[in-house]
Amino acid sequence: MVSDPAIGIHDLSFSTTEFVLPHATLADHNGTEIGKYHVGLGQQSMSVPAADEDIVTMGATAAEPIITRHGSDRVRTVVFATESSIDQAKSAGVYVHSLLGLPSATRVVELKQACYGATAALQFAVGLVRRDPVQQVLVIASDISKYDLDSPGEATQGAAAVAMLVGSNPALVRIEEPSGLFTADVMDFWRPNYRDAALVDGQESVDAYLRAVLGTWKDYAEQDGRPLDEFTAFCYHQPYAKMAYKAHRHLLHHCERHSGEAAVARAVGRTTAYNTAIGNSYTASVYLALAALLDEADDLTGRPIGFMSYGSGSVAEFFGGTLAPGYREHLRTTAHRGAVDRRRPVDYATYRELHERSFPADGGDHPTPSQTTGSFRLAGLRGHQRVYERRAADSARSSAEAGFRRLRPDGHRPATAHS
Ligand code: CAA
Repeated sequence: MVSDPAIGIHDLSFSTTEFVLPHATLADHNGTEIGKYHVGLGQQSMSVPAADEDIVTMGATAAEPIITRHGSDRVRTVVFATESSIDQAKSAGVYVHSLLGLPSATRVVELKQACYGATAALQFAVGLVRRDPVQQVLVIASDISKYDLDSPGEATQGAAAVAMLVGSNPALVRIEEPSGLFTADVMDFWRPNYRDAALVDGQESVDAYLRAVLGTWKDYAEQDGRPLDEFTAFCYHQPYAKMAYKAHRHLLHHCERHSGEAAVARAVGRTTAYNTAIGNSYTASVYLALAALLDEADDLTGRPIGFMSYGSGSVAEFFGGTLAPGYREHLRTTAHRGAVDRRRPVDYATYRELHERSFPADGGDHPTPSQTTGSFRLAGLRGHQRVYERRAADSARSSAEAGFRRLRPDGHRPATAHS
């Protein structure tokens, strides 16, 4: 099933936000029994973006270590997948291209189909590499999941970016053919252009997801894909971690396999470590599941992994991949765990203030408070243009403020986050 040369994921790196809201804090605020979040949804906490963070800063942070390790000589395409886009015309990838100093001889484009976008990007990347196996494609999946405050969706927010270098003879995952495909026009989750937060029909979204699982699986089987039992683990899109369990139980039941708790946990249990702490990262989420599997599991060399990518609206794809010999030498486990652990908890009032923040649309100078400590920050909005900065590693906060001196301070205090 792996054609010659093998093509797939050569490197993978993720980033998340500066802040985190534990579900216990949310439950304290809204009086929800914590078991609903911890057990019912399988969520412990969710990443919360700082005022000077967005999909570009997360995307650049995720991709930077990949460019540092491999250089950019072979990268001729950057595909940025997101459903929380910052501009209707310009690709967020162009900002990342600039922040990372990539060569001008690069094509850069943004892709959208809800949480499925990154999988489309990955498959398009495989096609480009098949055309010219010397080239590599940088795929960046970056999203901020946002629902209305005090809505049922609020507990399933989060944010993260995953960057993947796609090329021939990949060091991590060899992507297989065929794919199982499924599209159905449903209104389970959507975000009109005039809204910041998504709209969702919760129960319909779960049902639509489950229909898509069977739809992709049936097509995958018809395309002569692997039998179910050959897969060692399954990476599902995880709007919340429990959804992976629900989806796999549904698939096992459909395939007339034993669908008890242990069988389901064996297949998906090692894929949830990052999503349970980060929350929904929309199109990045299925590849956070892969990151968790690679970082958590014992050696899986040569073992087939199933991927089920679901994007509301809806488009889904099931495909397989095998882990390349020696893949464990290329993992970024320490950095990944560090990205999750370094987040600073915010109290409920700070989270709410960050959630409700938006830029005025008057074309003025609107600097953001310097809240982040990473390499990249959104310095503000000036004349309707987003201004990004790259910080020197050793002078994080002070250099960011200096670089933004032409903008008026907005009088906003940094988030009252505990350090
Ligand atoms: N202890 C343990 N479990 C508890 C509990 C307690 N005290 N209280 C409730 N639960 C369980 C419930 O039994 C339920 O379990 P099941 O799913 O197994 O039935 C679970 O916790 C959730 O409870 P509810 O269904 O009552 O929760 P809700 O009405 O608040 O809605 C939700 C949950 C629909 C996921 C809602 O959070 C939501 O709308 N989220 C956004 C949409 C979403 O994530 N959809 C997922 C599929 S769509 C998709 O995947 C694309 C995407 O990224 C958006």
